[in-house]
Amino acid sequence: MAHTDPIKVGVLYSETGVTSSIESSQRFGTLFAIGQVNEEGGVDGREIVPVFYDAHSEPARYAALAERLITADNVKVIFGCYMSSTRKAVIPVVERWNRLLFYATLYEGFECSDHLIYTGAAPNQNSVQLAEYMTSKFGPRVYMVGSNYIYPYESNRIMADLVSQCPGGQKVGERYVPLDATERDFDEVLADIRNVQPDFIFSTVVGNSTQCFYRAYADAGFDPAKMPIGSLTTSEVEVAQMGAVVAEGHYTSAPYFQTIQTEANISCLAKFRERFGDSVAPNACWEAAYFQFHIFARALRASGSDDIDALMPCLLGSSFDAPQGTVRIEASNHHAYLYPRIGRVNSEGRFAIVRETREAIYPDPYLVAHDLSSTASQMTSVEN
Ligand code: ACM
Repeated sequence: MAHTDPIKVGVLYSETGVTSSIESSQRFGTLFAIGQVNEEGGVDGREIVPVFYDAHSEPARYAALAERLITADNVKVIFGCYMSSTRKAVIPVVERWNRLLFYATLYEGFECSDHLIYTGAAPNQNSVQLAEYMTSKFGPRVYMVGSNYIYPYESNRIMADLVSQCPGGQKVGERYVPLDATERDFDEVLADIRNVQPDFIFSTVVGNSTQCFYRAYADAGFDPAKMPIGSLTTSEVEVAQMGAVVAEGHYTSAPYFQTIQTEANISCLAKFRERFGDSVAPNACWEAAYFQFHIFARALRASGSDDIDALMPCLLGSSFDAPQGTVRIEASNHHAYLYPRIGRVNSEGRFAIVRETREAIYPDPYLVAHDLSSTASQMTSVEN
């Protein structure tokens, strides 16, 4: 009987390779939501069954496994990808087979596929806020350090453009390190930073080598109170890897931090820990993976089919009371309304939220409208 058959969904994250830690947290966010939906009886009595493959943090493997999920496992919807290089490898596959990918990671924007739903932050929901905060608090001269792939190149280009809107604003350096960088790979970068003396650092280093950069930065004697690192990709996962002593005083811009003091977030975290313990540190990518699955499950209930053509009209414009606040999928570009926040790591290794918005911000992946002064007026300071 078709109506009691389980519904298979693809889950494509990495348990191994350079971004294994952050991707594990996304996988747990997805599995947590799947468990909740199944505990409530599934979707119209049909259990959701995840089909998971470890993509080893390699773009070609993502593409091959997406193809396998679609052609061998008969999966119609895939949840996955962290690095933009991996998303870009999967897009042609889901487009060719008319399937749907849910992407739960902040990214560089300038993209809008009809076969994707994007629930991580677009640059107008994190980069603009970080640029405004860091330049107004620390000064307009930024030094950029990134991992060597597309997201850092593009995110740095956007940051340079934003910073140049400030009086005296300029990029004073830009360096890239391998995706599997160790502390030694940052030697030259740190010598250059010492020489150039920027006001702040913008880090687009991703994954497991993030801890190496922050540790090398601390070992080199740089003081975050004077010259902090601001990032979009250093979440609770990477802070846990580097430890509070190394992370304290640095900043991240994201729509979600564990420290959000709402009933919705506190109860979601409690339920997650009850089920999964302390195996992963909840973070913005975890939260985006969690809420996007619930958005999918509701659309599945409404449409009665996991076919993209039936699902999409139910997905576009839909909303969900997520841990960060009520989020909504914007019909015109498939991205989500989100709540930009700035967090500063405290001595316990937790993000103290120093700025936040009261309203969810429209996703503008092409940065059509953005200026630092209007951004400042949207943000509420919660600093003491
Ligand atoms: C990223 O590659 N979108 C972090």
